[in-house]
Amino acid sequence: MIKLTKNSFYREEETKKALCEFIMNAKQLSLGAQCAEFEEKFAKWQKRAYCVFFNSGSSANLALIQALINQGKIKVGDKAAFSAITWPTNIMPFIQLGIKPVPVDIELETLNISLKKVQEAYDREPFSLLFITNLLGFCDNIDEIAKFCKEKNILFLEDNCEALGSEYKGVKLGNYSHASTFSTFVGHHMSTIEGGMVCTDDKELARELRMVRSHGWDRHLPTEDQIMLRKKYHVPSFYDKYTFYDLAYNIRPTEIQGFLGIYQLAYLDEIVRKREKNYTCLSALYEKNPDFQKIKVLTGKNSNFAFPIVCSNKAIQQKYIDICNKEGIEVRPIVGGSMTEQPFYKKYVPGSYSLPNAKQVNDLGFYFANNAEMTDKEIEFIIKKLS
Ligand SMILES: Cc1ncc(COP(=O)(O)O)c(C=O)c1O
Repeated sequence: MIKLTKNSFYREEETKKALCEFIMNAKQLSLGAQCAEFEEKFAKWQKRAYCVFFNSGSSANLALIQALINQGKIKVGDKAAFSAITWPTNIMPFIQLGIKPVPVDIELETLNISLKKVQEAYDREPFSLLFITNLLGFCDNIDEIAKFCKEKNILFLEDNCEALGSEYKGVKLGNYSHASTFSTFVGHHMSTIEGGMVCTDDKELARELRMVRSHGWDRHLPTEDQIMLRKKYHVPSFYDKYTFYDLAYNIRPTEIQGFLGIYQLAYLDEIVRKREKNYTCLSALYEKNPDFQKIKVLTGKNSNFAFPIVCSNKAIQQKYIDICNKEGIEVRPIVGGSMTEQPFYKKYVPGSYSLPNAKQVNDLGFYFANNAEMTDKEIEFIIKKLS
């Protein structure tokens, strides 16, 4: 079987051995020095000033929206636009926290939202926040989208959970916006079993995120933030660590995840190179098989998440899903499909939108593996069976 995810970690055996050794010698396994070191190293790798580590990418998304509400940057009742094809926990925080979601259709050529689609959505229903998803490691003209958001005073965020390492016009995806989120769940580019991050250059947002991550309390904040807040709220010293400043959760990672983050980060450039190379080889399929719609890749460095196929009708899609099932090539729908088609969305968000491209990808698409440990033989096999 050519599975979507081959192992729990890149270089699994040595990672597991190192993890066992770490656990045997560790004095602390709850949030501590390993997580802090990983945050520092990841921020440097991503070329952002701050990184805050969470227990999942979904928690990173939730924390980001909660932190922006706590800061007063968005408020209950505001409208927030999102890429129609994404993962549900990209938009669930909006519904959970009283923000109205506004879907933006994708481009069939890139599977991502473009400036044109953002403008169309804005003309239909103006919004004050855009949380874009860099789907499958690709993007459309994200620099133009960032410019538009600046002009219209729209707070721009990126869900980069599927695009770790991709670059557009020499800039890493995840760096076009005010803040971006990442996932290190097994099967993503880099695994810490479960895990996620928010990156930003905004110091105050980073502080708010650390608060939201951990009970809203003083205890897990950097010393300079503790001093500032204790002074601001006139906190007596006996109560200082147990002062709770704002609405929060407990969505902390553990030192196990911190250790794994540091360990796997050392392989990240190699992982990105392999995913890019695999994608280049697999894209021969678009040339060989006229049944498959060709995807236009605009990213200069393409850290592809999984290989997408979009067909022109249901019979063709079924034909290739059947071939994959018979030949042992694991397939699944493209990410979470079109969000407005999902039961949770219909339950909580009234109204309907015409999103023909997202619907087509939802109804006629599927994807199979691209991971850093795929062999040339597996790639050749897939090309042979699907050509
Ligand atoms: C675009 C996107 N956002 C968020 C997530 C959630 O990440 P996690 O599984 O770490 O909660 C995913 C997961 O696949 C995703 O693809």
